[in-house]
Parts: sequence; C-alpha cells; structure tokens
Amino acid sequence: MYRTHDCGALRIENVGQEVVLSGWLQASRDFGGLTFIDLRDRYGITQLVFNAEDEDQAGIDAKLGREYVLRATGKVRERSNKNPNRPTGDIEIEVSKLEILNASKVPPFTIEDETDGGDDIRMRYRYLDLRRPQVQNNIIFRSNLAIETRKYLAEQRFVEVETPFLIKSTPEGARDFVVPSRMNQGQFYALPQSPQTFKQILMVAGMDRYFQIVKCFRDEDLRADRQPEFTQIDCEMAFVTQEDILNTFEGLTKYLFKTVKGVDLPDFPRMSYDEAMKRYGSDKPDLRFDMEFVELNDVAKGHGFSVFDDAELIVGICAEGQASEFSNKDIKKLTEWMQRPQIGAKGLVNVKLTADGIKSSVGKFYTDEQIKTWADKMGAKEGDMLLIMSGEEEKTRKQLNELRLEMGRRMGLMKEGDFKPLWVVDFPLLEWDEESERFHAMHHPFTSPKKEDEERMLNGDHETMKSLRADAYDLVLNGSEIGGGSIRIHDRALQSRNFDLLGFTKEEAEAQFGFLMGAFEYGAPPHGGIAFGFDRLCAVMNGQSSIRDFIAFPKNNQGRDMMIDAPSPIDMEQLEELELALKPKK
Ligand code: AMO
Repeated sequence: MYRTHDCGALRIENVGQEVVLSGWLQASRDFGGLTFIDLRDRYGITQLVFNAEDEDQAGIDAKLGREYVLRATGKVRERSNKNPNRPTGDIEIEVSKLEILNASKVPPFTIEDETDGGDDIRMRYRYLDLRRPQVQNNIIFRSNLAIETRKYLAEQRFVEVETPFLIKSTPEGARDFVVPSRMNQGQFYALPQSPQTFKQILMVAGMDRYFQIVKCFRDEDLRADRQPEFTQIDCEMAFVTQEDILNTFEGLTKYLFKTVKGVDLPDFPRMSYDEAMKRYGSDKPDLRFDMEFVELNDVAKGHGFSVFDDAELIVGICAEGQASEFSNKDIKKLTEWMQRPQIGAKGLVNVKLTADGIKSSVGKFYTDEQIKTWADKMGAKEGDMLLIMSGEEEKTRKQLNELRLEMGRRMGLMKEGDFKPLWVVDFPLLEWDEESERFHAMHHPFTSPKKEDEERMLNGDHETMKSLRADAYDLVLNGSEIGGGSIRIHDRALQSRNFDLLGFTKEEAEAQFGFLMGAFEYGAPPHGGIAFGFDRLCAVMNGQSSIRDFIAFPKNNQGRDMMIDAPSPIDMEQLEELELALKPKK
C-alpha cells in the first residue's frame, strides 16, 4: 500500500494511529541524529521525523535529496513546537520505515510559492512548476470551474457537442493556423478560431441549446491575456432574443462565482458601447473605480492655448486627493509614460488644486477663475489633481483610458476581491477601416443588425452603414473582456448583404460560407449565442491579469512550448509526403 492518508489529511485526532504516507521531499533538516522531512503532495505537507541512527534506517538520510519520492510508515504524534500556518501543523509522523520510491535530480528552482525560477526555466520544467501549490491550485480551480459550468448548463438543458478541429477558415479576425492535408495534396485545413459556423449549423439542425468547453486557435500577437490556443465556453441558443441570452449567461456567471468562490454578484449593469466610450474611452471599462471622463471643450477652448483650441476633443479625469502625491518630477515621468509609442500621447496637462491655490501647467493661458470652471465641471475639490488631454477624438479617448487605468492602479483602486461585472451592449455592426478602405465586422460577419436597423442596412448608403447598431454584447469583468456574442442573421438576403458590405464578392462568400448560407435555406431558426474566454474567466476570478498560470501547458510570448520545444522543423520525408518540400531547381 502506498498510502493510508494524503499529506494534508492528518490532524490532532489522528494521534496514535499507524499511517503510511507517500509524496515528495520538500525539505529536510538534521538535528543531531534526528531528521525532519517535509513531505508534500497535492493535498498538503506533513512533517516526518525519524531517527537516522536506527539500524534499519542507517544511512538513508545521507541518500535523500529535494524532490525524492518517499514512502513513510509510522505513528502520528503531537508536535511539541506546533506550526499554526499548516493544517497538519499540530502533528508529525514518527517514522518507523522510510523508503525511497524514486530519486530526483536537483531541481533547477525551488518548488515553493515564492520560487527563485525565472519564467523561461519554469516553462521548460513545467512539471516541476506545476508541483508548486499556487500553480497547482490554479489548475484545480480551473477544473472546478469547468465541472460547475457543465452542471449549470446541463441543468438548463444545454447539449455538449464536439465540433471538428480540422476545418476551414472561421472569420474571427485573427490569422488561421493551417494544417496540410496529405490525402488532398496542396490543400490545407484551418484550425478553428472558434466553432462559430458549426454552432449555428447545430441550431439549424434543431439542437436548440448547445455548449462546448473547447479549444480555439488564433495566430495573433500574444499578450498577458492572449494565448495562441485558448479555451472558450462556447454556447448557442435557438428561439431567443438578446435579453434571453444576457439573462442565461448572467445566471451562469453568478452561479460560478457563488459555487466556486462563494461570492454573490449583484445584477449586472448594462451600458451601451457609445456610453462606455464616452465615459471611459473603452469598450471594457473597469468599474471598480469612477474617475469618469469629463469633456471640457466648452470651457477650455478659445483662450489662446493653441493645443486646446485646435483639438477636436479636450477631456480630463479628476484624480482624487492626488495633488500632494505627485511632484513635478512624477508628473514628468507620467507624461513620458503616456508618450511611449504604445500609447502615443502628445502631452498631458495637469492642474493641482492645493491649499495655496491652483497650480497648473497651463497657467500662462488661463486665469485661476477659468481653471476653476474646469474643476467645477469635473467635481474636483481641494487636494485633487486634474489630468487633461486633447487631440483627435477617438485617439484621445483611448489614451485617456490608459491613463485612467494607470491612475487606478497607482491609487490602489483596483481592490482584490472586488468584482464589477458589466454588459456592454449595442455595439456598432461595422467598423470602417481607413487603411484598407473597407468595412470590418465589429464582432463577426454573422452578427445581426438591430431589428430597427435592418431596413437601413439593406437600402442605406455608405455613411448610413457606419451608424448601424448590432445585437452584439460583451461581458466585461473588472476591465477584462470575458465574453462576447450576438444574435445572428438567419436570413439569407441579410447575410448576403453583410458579405457585400464586408467586401466579399459573391464567389468568395459562396466558396467560404456557402455551406452556412445553404443551411439557412432549410429553415434556420432565429438564434444567438456567446462565448466566454475560459482562461480569462479563471484569471479574473482570481484577481490575475495573466492567463498563463491557469493553463497547464501554456505557450510563451513567442508562441513556443518551451517544454516540448515546439514549433520545430519536421524532416524531409514528412515534407515530401505532404508535397511541401521545396523542389531543387533543375
Ligand atoms: P470572441 O472572438 O469575442 O467571440 O471570443 C470570445 C472570448 O474569447 C476570449 N478570447 C481569448 N482568450 C485568450 N486568448 C485569446 N487569444 C483570445 N481571443 C479571444 C475573450 C473573448 O471575449 N464566436 C464568437 C462568440 C460568439 O459570437 O458567440 C467569438 O469567438 O474572452
């Protein structure tokens, strides 16, 4: 028998029992003949004590090393110096027999929550990293979340259906990963960016309510909240309105928070896309703090300060109580931070409302009375600092959003354990791209315009298209886009018009999506759905921004799996078989 208990199980009530434990050696200490060992498994750590001078055990302590796999037989006894930080801290095992089940090389980093291993080395030895309780707990959290998701959706009569991975391009806006076909030489499958078209076909097939916890693949630039393969809770429902979907998935989110975290979420507020952009400069505002945008065009223009006079928009935020927190040097640094190419701000105007009066970087152009009108408009009081930006409208709002988030971070306003969900609704249907001079689907090409905009979509001119609104929605949690979805077009004429607007020729649309449009001709029910980013949900529920620690085997920022060393070249034979080998020129 390898064990009677796990390493987290034993308590004071077990004193006197004969037990067998197995696990990894976390640490060992010698005290004049007595050896103390911390034995670790997934469930916890138990202290072993044995007398290395016992005849049977003689010499074993000299052979032990970190991460050795051990089996210990012995009796539970009360500890004289208890460890209140450990659930098993009241007891220890007086070992009568210690066996080495397997040896271990010296691990390249310490296997504790606070490790000395850098990112790369931990990724390379991911199996050791996964032994760290913190990372292990993340993976267990994820497992619980998946189990509870299935429970909730099954209860709501959703059917879990697997859709294929070897498919053709799905239009979610990223690049495809492609897979060459040996049996159809010169042809390629694409890995799904999402199961979008299949779930819609399942609605045509009468499945009524579908879900899948599914891998999606997107060849895009990576960030902390993006991986090339990630997981969605993907869902679709027939005979529903947007309201039905929002209610069902608000229900799922509340259920998951309650069962997995013990947190009661309030009803989710809703905000239109336009309002979110106006008040926060973002379609995923972090509502854990206010610091809303205030527009100052009417009070700041026309006083000879050309930067403001020439700007399309002058807009600011009020950082409460920060006047004394930011020296001129700090403000210079903050301005430089805003001027980095990632944000690209031209400058930043600041006003401090101090006990000694108004201190401002634009004092030359405005009287104190004039600046006071700005402060009043922004609801600012003594001790506050105003940060104001100006320029082209859309760009300025985006830049001020970055500043608002940075100030939120610096001021400690993003509190742990605070969860602020939000539905962002009424997204634009189409987005005009100046560079390619084309419309793009803001969500994806199957998204339905709002009922009242259908007529304008079918018959309107170019400018009209920019104002169309979609039945599309995002679930935002603490400033992170957790999910997105829409009511779909189920009418062939409207779908064709959408493809036209997106610049597909009839032939291209037919070649790429003919199967879907064909299916729509056989009685497609009205339908809609949503997909949650499962990795992101895990991270945000735990107050983290990086999804990597919630994925057992993630890729690094170059899209590499450091453990198995992929991607990697394949041999000539394989290339030739796939007809991918470059033929030597004759
Ligand atoms: P969308 O493209 O918005 O919608 O994706 C849904 C959610 O998936 C998450 N997500 C990602 N997570 C990690 N890494 C990535 N690279 C990544 N890309 C997206 C986000 C996002 O909100 N088929 C539609 C859904 C629908 O319309 O029903 C879709 O895929 O949290």
